[in-house]
Amino acid sequence: MLSKQEQLKKIEEELKAHKDLPLMKGCTQLVFGEGNSDAEVLFIGEAPGFWEDLKGRPFVGNAGKLLDKLIESIGLKREEVYITNVVKCRPPENRDPLPNEIEAYAPYLNHQIEIIRPKIVVTLGRYSLNKFLPNARISEVHGRPVRVGDIIVTPMYHPAAALRSGAVMEALKEDFLVIREVLKNPAMVSEPSRPTKEKEIDPNQLTLF
Ligand code: URA
Repeated sequence: MLSKQEQLKKIEEELKAHKDLPLMKGCTQLVFGEGNSDAEVLFIGEAPGFWEDLKGRPFVGNAGKLLDKLIESIGLKREEVYITNVVKCRPPENRDPLPNEIEAYAPYLNHQIEIIRPKIVVTLGRYSLNKFLPNARISEVHGRPVRVGDIIVTPMYHPAAALRSGAVMEALKEDFLVIREVLKNPAMVSEPSRPTKEKEIDPNQLTLF
């Protein structure tokens, strides 16, 4: 049985071998993700930028420096968490990732989540938010943890947005405190409400009446 670290390495090798994925030809190198394979907190950003592409590591530019400080502000170290992105190769000129690019890299991100099995996924920015909550708007849901299947997702603004706006910076700092609360008491995050629409009721249940 492979360790979590070995399983992650195997997925990374598979990704490297998959040379016809979108963006692969134009980027310097893949940025798979890094950190503790047993992390309780998994951060998911958007895509590698200039510095990430150069160094092959996620969040190592200005947004990354801010992310490091925010992680430390809640008493954690970068090495204790895991950090990755929705898309694993830098889009040209740092443009937003396209739907086909997000889709192409999704199986690798899904594997990372399955292997790490974090207590909390923190989505940074709208692309990772919309992976879990396709119709949610970040301005409405940031800092509000929700259960999506068996994962607690806590949406947050992207650190790069916080570097551009004082109001977003304040919101992001405050939202980070929620991570600590959820880690202490995951039960504070309620289950999603039960389905009420008739078509969603299990038909076998109806035979009881
Ligand atoms: N922005 C991201 O979304 N990811 C990175 O790795 C760096 C900047």
